[in-house]
Amino acid sequence: MIRVEPDREALARTAAELIAACARDAVRARGRFTVAVAGGGTPLPAYRSLASPALAGTVPWPGVHVFWGDERCVPPDDPSSNERAVREALLDRVPVPADHIHPIRCAGDPARAALAYDALLRSFFADGDGPTFDLVLLGLGENGHTASLFPGDPALQETSRWVVPARVAGQAFARVTLTAGVLNRARAVVFLVSGSAKAGVLRQVLEGPRRPERLPAQLIRPRFTQPLWLIDAEAASQLSDGKDSRRGDRP
Ligand code: 6PG
Repeated sequence: MIRVEPDREALARTAAELIAACARDAVRARGRFTVAVAGGGTPLPAYRSLASPALAGTVPWPGVHVFWGDERCVPPDDPSSNERAVREALLDRVPVPADHIHPIRCAGDPARAALAYDALLRSFFADGDGPTFDLVLLGLGENGHTASLFPGDPALQETSRWVVPARVAGQAFARVTLTAGVLNRARAVVFLVSGSAKAGVLRQVLEGPRRPERLPAQLIRPRFTQPLWLIDAEAASQLSDGKDSRRGDRP
């Protein structure tokens, strides 16, 4: 499912409305809403929009649990920290219980941090048949990565662990990421993609041959639903005509 918004602002607003609606539905149905948020810059305007009084007032925050799809292994107050970015854009502005915020802390040893987050997820989802998030938010890197699942990384083949460390050549910091297996168990998966710099890789991922080894975003095939690609017109600029579905549906 692909939905094309005219610009970044509309993309952010629609994404925020969608997250709020998913939260209301999940809390109504199951008493809680579990979301794995995306890092990077693209989702930040949506998080800020969700924190706006108009929308924040429609979200049942006491039932919301926030997890991260991946993290850069820097201190939580580092400018590169996904935790810091999401706290500043959203969590510091809304009444989500502090003990419902579950960051990935990996400033030290990434392997140990991955084990710790794996254990945290296993205890949190112990009452179910596995880690089934209500909503997973993802971005798309220009090299086709999503979360911290990078081209050629052995983590792409992982089938038993829920969380693994990842290292990207040339990057100063290691990373920790949820595996594709966990992301694909979600009840809803939404990719947020914006800007002309992503148009080429987006066409490859959505319309090109299936090569998840080189385009890890192609690994995301949820078991219970189809991923929703919420994109703006610039990012959609290389997609073949007729690719965007109707506006207004939710995954
Ligand atoms: C991260 C993200 C990563 C991100 C893409 C897109 O920690 O960097 O989780 O997967 O979503 O790199 O990043 P932008 O939105 O900044 O383009």
